[in-house]
Amino acid sequence: KASPRIRQVIGSAIQHLHDWARENEITVDEWMSGLELINEAGRMSNDRRNEGQLVCDVLGLESLVDEITYKLATSAADAPTATAILGPFWRADAPKRAMGETIVHGIEGGDHTLMHGVVTDYLTGAPVEGAELDVWHTAPNGLYEQQDPDQPDMNLRGRFTTGKDGRYSFYCLRPTSYPIPFDGPAGTLLQLLDRHPMRPAHIHFIVKAPGYKPIITQIFDRADKHITDDAVFAVKDSLIVDFKPLQGNDRAQFELPYNFRLATY
Ligand code: DHB
Ligand code: FE
Repeated sequence: KASPRIRQVIGSAIQHLHDWARENEITVDEWMSGLELINEAGRMSNDRRNEGQLVCDVLGLESLVDEITYKLATSAADAPTATAILGPFWRADAPKRAMGETIVHGIEGGDHTLMHGVVTDYLTGAPVEGAELDVWHTAPNGLYEQQDPDQPDMNLRGRFTTGKDGRYSFYCLRPTSYPIPFDGPAGTLLQLLDRHPMRPAHIHFIVKAPGYKPIITQIFDRADKHITDDAVFAVKDSLIVDFKPLQGNDRAQFELPYNFRLATY
């Protein structure tokens, strides 16, 4: 619907695009190649393959918009948990699971990890009751469940709701670094720019609770060799974590303590 804001934003986009074409003396042939890339992204996009978002992400747009939107969040130790991009592979309606359950099904190998912590109000430090953690990550083969016919539906996803103590815990895998899908326009762009498609190992979260601002974020494994080199520019210092070897638990080889801090509206 028309509004002053929309006129401003679209008008400015047109102005910058025209400037870009003039400055670079874009030819009809060059413009047609770009158009073909956009059309191909549209043709490939479906609910399993979010190619349009992938293309924007390798251009750094989603990360930039995340930074602009949440610029007030600092990396101070007592600030609300920093945000990070959603990425193309979140799915609505992940299964609700009981605390302490695993999200890992039908997968051989992998480093099982007990992730646990507390969701607090960042100002008061009080535990947040009724906070929902929506979590998702890739299998050791680098594929999210919707990209991989060999995984059960909704594998490596789950929603967990905290009780009075604000605590959560679940079993997942220590993720591995992996390439974003590069057999389409996003890959073409990376290739044209001499860039690699790797993302550092990460786990995604949406954390929300009544009365609090939801946060979309990811945590990143410090030991990953792509930690300073994310193909979609999402890593923030305060989101880098250390997986710890875990002894005496026959369900997991690693432990990952991590607390989330929420801000009220
Ligand atoms: C992107 C984000 C992800 O989390 C991922 O696993 C793959 C791609 C992206 O931003 O394009
Ligand atoms: Fe991801």
